[in-house]
Amino acid sequence: MNETQRLFFAIEVPEDIKTELGKFGVTLERPWRPVKTEQMHITLAFMGEVPASEIEKVKSIGEKAAAAVTEFNLAISDSAVFPESGDPKVLYAQADGGESLLSLVDALRGPLDALADQKKFKPHLTLARSRGERARKVIRRFRGSWPVQGFALFRSNLGENGPHHELLHRYQLKPVEKILQAEIEEY
Ligand code: 2AM
Repeated sequence: MNETQRLFFAIEVPEDIKTELGKFGVTLERPWRPVKTEQMHITLAFMGEVPASEIEKVKSIGEKAAAAVTEFNLAISDSAVFPESGDPKVLYAQADGGESLLSLVDALRGPLDALADQKKFKPHLTLARSRGERARKVIRRFRGSWPVQGFALFRSNLGENGPHHELLHRYQLKPVEKILQAEIEEY
């Protein structure tokens, strides 16, 4: 069996934020094709061809990364396009999760090594893709943030109607420690 799977670790986007982003998507003109709201995510590590024999290893790398990184806040802001010069192909909202997000990506991509795409990480939430005709740059100023408590492993199943992202596993990050310090003074 030489079958491989297309997997990726990603941060899921809260429903209300996806709904708002979806409203922006419908205002886009051709050739932009908005991403379906149910497929919106922030990719942490993309693994194009994972042999079946390596899937347990991938899952355990997810567990270890989750245990090493504490919950954090993630903010999205103004849209931008990839590539930075030439014909725009991907329209995205910039994402910022500070050092914690970068540590999470390192904790996944480091041990995944050659299983993962090691292209420089640019935190983003893809909103639309273009194909064919030249797409116009569209700027939209988003202001939003949410607490990230975990991430997920997805399998991308390529079908006739485009890819379907199947949720395989959810991982819980280390909870923020709640600290109460009380000092008692007696007179
Ligand atoms: P993106 O829009 O955040 O880049 C599943 O294929 C997901 O993995 C895509 O939605 C895409 O999310 C991400 N991805 C990252 N690198 C990829 C690559 N080289 N090929 C396909 N998908 C990639």
